[in-house]
Amino acid sequence: MSRSVNVAIIGTGVVGAAFINQLKNLQSVITFNVVYLARSRTALIARDYQPLALASWEADVQAATTPTLALSELAQFLRAGTAPAILIDNTSNEEIASFYPSFIEQGISIATPNKKAFSSGLQTWKQIFAGAAKPAGGLVYHEATVGAGLPIIGTLRDIVATGDKVQKIEGIFSGTLSYIFNEFSTPEGKDVNFSDVVAVAKSLGYTEPDPRDDLNGLDVARKVTILARIAGFEVESPTSFPVHSLIPKALESVKSGEEYMEKLPEFDGDMETLKENAAKQNKVLRFVGKVDFPSNTVSVGIEEYSFDHPFAALKGSDNVVSIQTERYQNPLIVQGAGAGAEVTAAGVLADAIKIAERIAK
Ligand SMILES: NC(=O)c1ccc[n+]([C@@H]2O[C@H](COP(=O)([O-])OP(=O)(O)OC[C@H]3O[C@@H](n4cnc5c(N)ncnc54)[C@H](OP(=O)(O)O)[C@@H]3O)[C@@H](O)[C@H]2O)c1
Repeated sequence: MSRSVNVAIIGTGVVGAAFINQLKNLQSVITFNVVYLARSRTALIARDYQPLALASWEADVQAATTPTLALSELAQFLRAGTAPAILIDNTSNEEIASFYPSFIEQGISIATPNKKAFSSGLQTWKQIFAGAAKPAGGLVYHEATVGAGLPIIGTLRDIVATGDKVQKIEGIFSGTLSYIFNEFSTPEGKDVNFSDVVAVAKSLGYTEPDPRDDLNGLDVARKVTILARIAGFEVESPTSFPVHSLIPKALESVKSGEEYMEKLPEFDGDMETLKENAAKQNKVLRFVGKVDFPSNTVSVGIEEYSFDHPFAALKGSDNVVSIQTERYQNPLIVQGAGAGAEVTAAGVLADAIKIAERIAK
C-alpha cells in the first residue's frame, strides 16, 4: 500500500489556486489526501477523511456553505486522522500564522509562503523551530517566504547546517522595487523620472493598490529578517534595524494612494540627484536588503553598484541574492523570478513534497 499524508489547504487566492492545480496534477508515489480546503469564510471538510475531489475544486469551493473551522478545531480534526497531516497556509493572515506554534506542538507540519510568523517577534521564531525540533513536533518549510520558488532558504539552511560561516547576504527581494530600480537607474543612463516609473509599475499591476505598501520597505525588511535569523543573526523584529523608506516624509500621511501618486513628481529631484551621483562613478542604484556579519548590521535601503556588478544587470522584476561565506568567498548567487502564482505555488508544493517524504505513513 502506498504511503499517504492528509493535507489541509487554507487560501484559494492567487497562490492557493495555482497550488491546488499543481497538486491536482502531481505524480507522486506518496498519496496527498486533501481533507480540508478553506477560504476566509467557508470550507470543504472531508469529515470521513476520504479525499476531496480536486477535479472540481473551484466550483465546489464556490458552492461551499460550511463555515471554516476555528484553528483549534482544525488542529483537532487533523490530529484525529490516521495519516500524518500537513497544513498549507496560502494566506497572509496573521492569526493563522500566530497559531503555527500550536499546530507544530500538536505534530502538524506546515508548508507556507506566508512571511508573518517568521518575520515577527524573535520569540515566535524560536518557539516554532524549537517545536519543530522535538521528535513529535510538526515540520516547518517556508521556502516561498523569500524569493518565491527560488532556492534561497534551503540553500542558506544547507550552508549553515554543513558548518560554513555566513559573512554577508545581500539581495533584491522585492519584485516591485526590482522593476522600479531596473527601469529608473540603468548603466545606459535612461532618462526617466522616478514618479513615472512608479506610475508604470502601478499600471502594470506590479505594485500594491497603494504603492506606499511596497515603497515603505517593510516587505523587504521581513524577508531580510528571515534570512538573517537562518544565518544566525538574532534579529528582534523587522523594525529593529534601519529600513530606508522610499516614501518622502511629506507623503507618509497623505490619505490615499491616488493623492500620493499625484504628489510624487514634486520629489523626483531627490531621486534624480542620487541617480546622477551614482552614474558619475559608473554605478546604478538598487534597493537592497543586507546582513553583514563583520559589522554586525542588518539594513534595508538604496545602495550603489558598479555597472559590472550582477545586481546592475538585473532585468524586469527578478529577485537576486548574493551569499558570501567562508567557503564561498566569491559569492554564491541565486537569481530569477521572485514572485508570481506558478513559481510561488511550486515553491510551496516542493516543500510539501519534502515534508511528505519525511512523515508519510
Ligand atoms: N502572489 C505572489 O506572487 C506571492 C509571492 C510570494 C509569496 N506570496 C505569499 O503568498 C500568500 C498568498 O498570497 P496571494 O497572492 O495568493 O493572496 P490572495 O490572492 O489575496 O489570497 C489569499 C487567500 O487567503 C484566504 N484567506 C485570508 N484570510 C483567511 C482566513 N483567516 N482563513 C482562511 N482563508 C483566508 C483568502 O480567502 P477569500 O478567497 O475568502 O478572500 C484568499 O483565498 C501571501 O502570504 C503572500 O505574501 C505571494
